[in-house]
Amino acid sequence: MKIQQNISLKEFNTFGIHVNAKRFVSIESVYHLQELLKIEKDIFVISGGSNMLLTRDIDQLVVHINIKGISIDRESENSVHLTVNAGENWHEFVLWCISEDYGGIENLSLIPGNVGTCPIQNIGAYGVEVKDVITKVEVIEIATGKTHSFSNKDCQFGYRNSIFKNEAKGKYIISSVSFNLTKKTHKLNTSYGAIEKELKERKIASPTIKDVSDVVIAIRESKLPDPKKIGNSGSFFKNPVISKELFEKIQKKHPNIPSYPVSETEIKVPAGWLIEQSGFKGKRFGDYGVHEKQALVLVNYSNASGKDVYNLAQRIQKTIFENFSIDLEIEVNII
Ligand code: EPU
Repeated sequence: MKIQQNISLKEFNTFGIHVNAKRFVSIESVYHLQELLKIEKDIFVISGGSNMLLTRDIDQLVVHINIKGISIDRESENSVHLTVNAGENWHEFVLWCISEDYGGIENLSLIPGNVGTCPIQNIGAYGVEVKDVITKVEVIEIATGKTHSFSNKDCQFGYRNSIFKNEAKGKYIISSVSFNLTKKTHKLNTSYGAIEKELKERKIASPTIKDVSDVVIAIRESKLPDPKKIGNSGSFFKNPVISKELFEKIQKKHPNIPSYPVSETEIKVPAGWLIEQSGFKGKRFGDYGVHEKQALVLVNYSNASGKDVYNLAQRIQKTIFENFSIDLEIEVNII
């Protein structure tokens, strides 16, 4: 366990924003994490850095969670229970599952970040959310160094939401996540329009989990910027849920507004569409801007500051409110 001084966090966040960490330590085991917590409580935890916008230097000790390892807890003919340590890269884990023919997370291919952060915002894409396969989340309590376990129900999962974004925020460090996946009879979810279309184009009538993963990768690569090339944090905003009344008012002016019913009285609308209609899609302001193929994604072309990106996000929020009377909620953590 070596504490380093004055480290740039540029390589540790997918937005590629440079801020300075006064002190930085990379942790490779639960034991080392518990030892560290005996002497240091004022910490800033970073894992895959895929859901944060850094707008300031970090004065606390930055703790990089780099605990690796996958273990099979038990398996039966058609299911496997796995525990994956927090520092494993999410997409590499998905690809490993596909190579082992373990099904359930193929729709979540190519999502940036690490396994330890996937429950926090309940990552989701193409009709699947990670809550559908999580059985348990193991954590270390920062105040005591003790381990605790959260069942799926304890996690209080919702759309891009969980207990770790609410009352448990800042109290725990996730050390591992357990999953229940299928082995033979996979429950494929190919109903999402773009997946159906791509499978048809590839003339695949009975897809395998590998086919679904390949298609998801192709769709994501065609729409979303690769964080290794252009810094970004995926969807910057949540898709807002609005009242039916407001929706009908907007629809009168914009008959083509896409929508997904949520309940009798509420409707979800894509933030990307609202932002595109407001003229921001593909707009570049020096070193940062709005992605040209998906308006929900804000990007850092090379050396933007977190403050620049945050100011743009606020400008977008203000414009969307003026144009549609909708409050866009930011999805990434602003630090
Ligand atoms: N749209 C536009 N303009 C845009 C972007 C989207 O008009 O610039 C319209 C599309 O035409 C479509 C609708 O909005 O009718 C939905 O677009 P898309 O299928 O791309 O999905 P999304 O709602 O924009 C959500 C997730 C993504 C996830 C996709 C696919 C949120 C906040 N985002 O995006 O998640 O990959 O669905 O399931 O829910 C992420 O969270 O980082 C992320 C990328």
